[in-house]
Amino acid sequence: MDRFSLIETPLRDSFAQAVRAGLASRPRHVPPRYFYDALGSELFERITRLPEYYLTRTETAILEHYAREFPTAPTVVEFGCGFGAKTRLLFDAFFRARKTMTYVPIDISRRALEEATAPLLRSYPGLSVRAIQAEFEQAFELIPREPSLALFLGSNIGNLDHHDAVRFLSALRGRRALVGFDMQKDEQVLLAAYNDAEGVTAQFNLNLLARINRELGGDFDLAQWDHLAIYDPDASRVEMHLAARRDQEVHVLGETHAFRAGQRIHTENSYKYSMKQIRAIAAESGFRVERVWTDEDEWYAVVLLT
Ligand code: AVI
Repeated sequence: MDRFSLIETPLRDSFAQAVRAGLASRPRHVPPRYFYDALGSELFERITRLPEYYLTRTETAILEHYAREFPTAPTVVEFGCGFGAKTRLLFDAFFRARKTMTYVPIDISRRALEEATAPLLRSYPGLSVRAIQAEFEQAFELIPREPSLALFLGSNIGNLDHHDAVRFLSALRGRRALVGFDMQKDEQVLLAAYNDAEGVTAQFNLNLLARINRELGGDFDLAQWDHLAIYDPDASRVEMHLAARRDQEVHVLGETHAFRAGQRIHTENSYKYSMKQIRAIAAESGFRVERVWTDEDEWYAVVLLT
């Protein structure tokens, strides 16, 4: 049997629909999944290597130390497709415990799925890949029913609001899930991670406007917009916005949008958790926390939900 297969699904809404709806609503917003065109994905890759962006580095260190303690399963489903070092750390540990494994990566990008899994297939002869090109929520009906371990790492859960996080985890019930949570910590540390000195996060955020110009014929003048990252302690989340520097009119998809100086487009929430909140989300989704692995400072937690 072929060791690689791919299911493709059409996207739920197009970039154009999301931008049209998001700019017409108040507060104005664009969903963060649209950050990740080719340039956006490259900028995100750079973010993960920034000195201020502790998340990726800390999660990788936890995987390095503890991957051997993680449970394995015949089928491992991953939301977002694993690239490089992180996936290899996990797979080396999994293949220490078993000879064969089916890997089901889910990603919006077909190219990312193909490019990420080809080297894995070469490295692990016991591996089969059943890739699913879809948005995460679309993939739930497509993932195998057999006992599996679901991976939702990289603090991706943090980009979902509480309701969506519970809906997401609820859909995984009956499996075990290994989830990466970014923990609450000193506000200065959080703000630095989303306001890096080199300005890569600003470029990543502003690329959304550049993408609207490129793909939807918009005329945003990027020099007239600021990257804004703020921490809301009540919601325990970092919010990213794009803020107009001065009064201006912008045209997108045949519509005119007037912005006053300081008005914003909300582009992302990144939730930061306490252990109590993690347990509450787990319970609401029909899970319990089986084990928690953290770094020394408890800045980040990899949590096994059952
Ligand atoms: C992908 N996600 C978990 C990142 C985060 O930290 O929320 C995206 C990101 N936004 C700004 N920097 C990184």
